Amino acid sequence: MPFSIAIAGKGGTGKTTLSALLVRTLTEAGTRPLLAVDADPNSTLAEALGVEAGRSLAEIREQGSAPEGSPASGIGRVRAVEDEVQRAITEAEGFDLITMGRPEGPRCYCAVNNLLRKSLNDLSHNYAAVVMDNEAGMEHLSRRTTNDVDVLLVVMNPALPSIRAAERILELSRQLPVHIARRVALLNRAGSQKLAEAVEGPLSGLKAERLPDVPQDERVESAGAVGQNVFRLGDDSPALAAVRRLVGMLLPPNSIAGTA
Ligand SMILES: Nc1ncnc2c1ncn2[C@@H]1O[C@H](COP(=O)(O)OP(=O)(O)OP(=O)(O)O)[C@@H](O)[C@H]1O
Ligand SMILES: [Mg+2]
Repeated sequence: MPFSIAIAGKGGTGKTTLSALLVRTLTEAGTRPLLAVDADPNSTLAEALGVEAGRSLAEIREQGSAPEGSPASGIGRVRAVEDEVQRAITEAEGFDLITMGRPEGPRCYCAVNNLLRKSLNDLSHNYAAVVMDNEAGMEHLSRRTTNDVDVLLVVMNPALPSIRAAERILELSRQLPVHIARRVALLNRAGSQKLAEAVEGPLSGLKAERLPDVPQDERVESAGAVGQNVFRLGDDSPALAAVRRLVGMLLPPNSIAGTA
């Protein structure tokens, strides 16, 4: 089984940035093969990683649900979906990327969804680690489009709304139909001591392990503003340095990092 990290948090807290920084750090640590999963329908992980996204699993599902002309089951159908999923993978230097797209809408995609879930499950077994960038509502986890996760990483900013959102996400995570082995939370864009003190109370009440903060980083901010990917950040980026330190705390002992 791959070691899987799912990133969640209120909109705009830095989920995609941290997912991409984690992918970069794991890649550099030699964690291979590594799969990045964009599970946010407003997919931006590909851009943050500097690659072109392939077709999303949602597009495959929509096509697969076409009522006329296509067989709904059978070995041919299974193979066709598996092939489509394989083709949807973007292969990059050190990691692969797959994009989930929108979770199912009002139409019933049960048959093809089951096939997709199975293909994704089979696919993930080929990887040592999986990093999944989620939307705040964690729709894909709720609908069980994805598998169980080893670490749920909830991202916050030093502001009350994102901490309240983290509380709700952690609460929701306990009701999800997926098993989550470990829940951690961290402050991203940390910097203002005064602000940090104001949110310290609610932070200490969080039902999750608190990881060290990731600082506000001018380089990350300007890279984000011009759509530049995290692989172009210099080694002197404080946020990158913080994520490099974090990785050791996220991975299990006898870490898979560096065991390529
Ligand atoms: N540590 C940081 N320092 C400075 N800027 C940051 C930091 N982390 C993220 N940002 C910036 O904050 C903005 C939002 O980040 P990002 O897109 O990663 O958030 P998100 O949680 O994925 O948002 P969404 O909910 O829209 O998917 C981006 O412009 C990004 O460059
Ligand atoms: Mg995002």
